[in-house]
Amino acid sequence: MRRPLIAGNWKMNGDPELAGSLINACKQAVRDHESVDLAVFPPYTLLPLVATEAGGGRVRVGAQDLSPHQKGAYTGEVSASMIKATGATMVLIGHSERRQWHQEGPKLLSAKLKRALDEGLTPIYCVGESLQQREENRTEAVVGQQLALLKSAEFKPHLSEILIAYEPVWAIGTGKTASPEQAQAVHAYIRGILHKVDARISGLVRILYGGSVTPESASGLLACADIDGALVGGASLKGDAFAAIAAAAS
Ligand code: PGA
Repeated sequence: MRRPLIAGNWKMNGDPELAGSLINACKQAVRDHESVDLAVFPPYTLLPLVATEAGGGRVRVGAQDLSPHQKGAYTGEVSASMIKATGATMVLIGHSERRQWHQEGPKLLSAKLKRALDEGLTPIYCVGESLQQREENRTEAVVGQQLALLKSAEFKPHLSEILIAYEPVWAIGTGKTASPEQAQAVHAYIRGILHKVDARISGLVRILYGGSVTPESASGLLACADIDGALVGGASLKGDAFAAIAAAAS
């Protein structure tokens, strides 16, 4: 019912040569695994190249961020329409590295989400708790708060156009993956929240897990009922590892 999506977040890594080889690995992986979709999120400067190479097939391409503004005097920002003009169709919103290092909070993220939807970019909205928040048993409270914006009248009608990524901050780039049980528990909680927004659509929304996903940890995670794919950082920079994660999803 929900096709698995394996998404690679390249973060601030890559050059044209690496991008070319990774996109080739992705194109081969979607040929090998009919039931899986892939997406890659290169840095802005590589978007035109990667989108052209991907060629509009089952390897989708997205940006790692976007400006909440349409255009104008916002030095350093990149707008949704500029992203779309590269051929990209998706965008990450609220990645924990943006929340942490760029102080992105609910108001700004809500504006970015609105901008993405208005311009027809498919957003992956990222949520997740810190280690301290987990140790204080506040995981559900934190994730619930981060998802609160979806309950607004503004976003409710767009639920089917949004993907969610659950990425516990303590698992990102640390080599510590959440166990399938830990991840599934939060994914089920997230689906419960979506169910309250729109019961029918909640069953269709893809919820990805992210945080040190490797070919080794992928199959256990992807076997969980409410885990519909992965958002992969480090392992997405190696074509064979990323392809192996795609294989685990098929
Ligand atoms: P990681 O990153 O796989 O390197 O932990 C995941 C992410 O930040 O999306």
